[in-house]
Amino acid sequence: MDFTTILFDVADAIATITINRPDKLNALNKTVFEELDQAIELVSQRGDIKSAIITGSGEKAFVAGADISEFTALNEKQGEALALKGQLVFDKIENCDKIIVAAVNGFALGGGCELAMACHIRVASDHAKFGQPEVSLGLLPGYGGTQRLTQLIGKGRALELLATGNMIDALTAFNYGLVNHMVEAPALLTKAKSILAVINSKAPLAVKSCIQAVGLAGGDDRSGFAQEAALFGKLLTTHDAREGVAAFLEKRKASFKGS
Ligand code: COA
Repeated sequence: MDFTTILFDVADAIATITINRPDKLNALNKTVFEELDQAIELVSQRGDIKSAIITGSGEKAFVAGADISEFTALNEKQGEALALKGQLVFDKIENCDKIIVAAVNGFALGGGCELAMACHIRVASDHAKFGQPEVSLGLLPGYGGTQRLTQLIGKGRALELLATGNMIDALTAFNYGLVNHMVEAPALLTKAKSILAVINSKAPLAVKSCIQAVGLAGGDDRSGFAQEAALFGKLLTTHDAREGVAAFLEKRKASFKGS
């Protein structure tokens, strides 16, 4: 399959999906979402693939978020639909019957942190940085971040990260339990592959059942995800979100007024 925004390689039964827009810090635009969706489908369907890694191109970023330039001029319904569409792709990753590891090689912000959290296992390089900076744009995460971050690190820490928009370094992410392992940058893919080599040697149906069972551990109430998408749509039409998005694109500080 010909992809334009991702790279897709298979070696030793492991597919490596690399988000490949380094000049935009691998921001997730519509095409990336479509291609990611197709890539996960390939991982699921191809018999020669046992597991997968998702990583980012270049040294600087895993994924610096959803592509903010696509947030302009959306109405509430379009905003909610955008969030729901992203949630579908990330759900597909979380529900994939083969293990997917996020190899976080730099900034994992906004949709990038949400993408890493949708993966089954997270390995970070020591210079990776995590955060949900949407409040700085007058928004909240829309791709499941409010739900998965809370599941992974608990309400107090999640709300602090969400409401401040602050970034945390890889060591803090490791201490919070947001990432399973932290390694020096050159060892990142080797570490991810060594975990998958062990998993790939186990019985595929047993691994698939572990994914299904662990997926149900937090309960199967989806109302938080739906509510998140609805709030994302609502917020997008506020003055503050228009201002926050414009300020980012114009490379200036936003001026919020609470409306
Ligand atoms: N959407 C669209 N473009 C993005 C982007 C995003 N989420 N993140 C970075 N980019 C673009 C920048 O606009 C810039 O493009 P340009 O060279 O055409 O001007 C390019 O990627 C490089 O980013 P830049 O901001 O110049 O790099 P930096 O080293 O100064 O800062 C970050 C790095 C990650 C701190 C900064 O890019 C950032 O804050 N990004 C947005 C993070 C965010 O809010 N994510 C949540 C989105 S919902």
